[in-house]
Amino acid sequence: MNFELNEQQQAIQMAARKFAQEELKPGVIERDQTSTFPLELYHKMGEMGLIGLPYPKEYGGQGLGYLEYALAVEEISKVDASMGISYSVTTSLYGGSVVNSDATEEQKKKFLPEVLSGKVHGAFGLTEPNAGSDAAGCITTAVKDGDEYVLNGMKIFNTNGPLAGYYAIYALTEPEKKAKGLACFIVKAGTPGLKVGKIEDKMGIRAAQVSEIILEDVRVPEENKIAMDGHGFKTAMKTLDAGRIGVAAQGLGIAEGAFEIAIEYLKEREQFGKPLFKNQYLMFKMAELQMEIEAAKYMLYKACCDKDSGKDYSLSAAKAKYLCTDAAMHVTTECVQMLGGNGYMKEYHVERMMRDAKITQIYEGTNEIQKLIVGGSLFR
Ligand code: CAA
Repeated sequence: MNFELNEQQQAIQMAARKFAQEELKPGVIERDQTSTFPLELYHKMGEMGLIGLPYPKEYGGQGLGYLEYALAVEEISKVDASMGISYSVTTSLYGGSVVNSDATEEQKKKFLPEVLSGKVHGAFGLTEPNAGSDAAGCITTAVKDGDEYVLNGMKIFNTNGPLAGYYAIYALTEPEKKAKGLACFIVKAGTPGLKVGKIEDKMGIRAAQVSEIILEDVRVPEENKIAMDGHGFKTAMKTLDAGRIGVAAQGLGIAEGAFEIAIEYLKEREQFGKPLFKNQYLMFKMAELQMEIEAAKYMLYKACCDKDSGKDYSLSAAKAKYLCTDAAMHVTTECVQMLGGNGYMKEYHVERMMRDAKITQIYEGTNEIQKLIVGGSLFR
């Protein structure tokens, strides 16, 4: 067992940290207030090679693993969790849908490089108004018509919905079989009938663009079908396993970002004639939070190592998602409290981090769903 990052991993971590501090931090408060996504900065992350980190070079990736990718998502999310989820959904959920499906080499080479190089975003269309935690309840259909499929339905809560160049859309080719009749299609932005619906006005991750995707007689060629009839549900589940690593890294980054701000504040701010950290109550609180962060981090890195070494990682990803995102909510809430009145003000960042943390306990499988997955494994 080796707890050290290698030189390449450290270099990726440092490059992502520098980018986050120097380029993402300056406008992060304004972007939160105006719900604006910084597209140029996203493209820059693509040029740095961050978006495609865990994919083979022939698909436009960097040929590295999920640990390298999680380190980057963590650093980005320490500063800007909206960018963290936009990145993670593209890499894990769009890219994952392609590689976890039945996609041929030709399809992978067609549908991955533009996205993995960061030129355009990818989005993941699974959730529907009546299919949230119960993902098997999808009713969007794909009906074969000659050598095309005609898609009809609506997807909701699509991260990157208004920005994406490519959408992985899960749809029923055999509706009578319910989840066992699900397939998956790649739909390019601009395909007639694909419309961006309501853009969500959110509590947190306000710079991330999340919307409905409406599909009205959307015609896609058969060669855009990546998960064959009945293979869609398992493709989605495998993809979400990896997505949960991304969300765990986002949650961990949010927790660490708030913690670092609190450390500096407790050293600098004096009350009752001494720096705040000299109050044992606050020092103990920080010790507790630090241990919570470190424990969550090692669960996340283990999930990455499980995935990168080819082991089954559904369970470790579920545990990492649960621990890192609960840590995000707890740590940010405590940090707002420790910064007192200042913690409530936007310029200190921690109130935004607390709002951003909440959704990490909800999306890509609520933390109750993670307990269902872990609990279920105990009584098989
Ligand atoms: N990998 C591979 N196969 C899997 C799997 C996995 N992780 N999990 C389940 N399966 C397979 C099962 O083996 C089973 O196969 P068989 O039929 O051959 O036996 C099949 O899938 C059905 O499994 P279940 O009976 O366990 O399925 P279920 O309907 O009870 O659902 C669930 C299980 C875990 C609750 C699942 O519905 C789930 O993960 N729900 C949460 C959905 C979710 O995470 N949504 C997030 C959407 S993305 C998002 O958040 C938006 C964003 O943009 C950020």
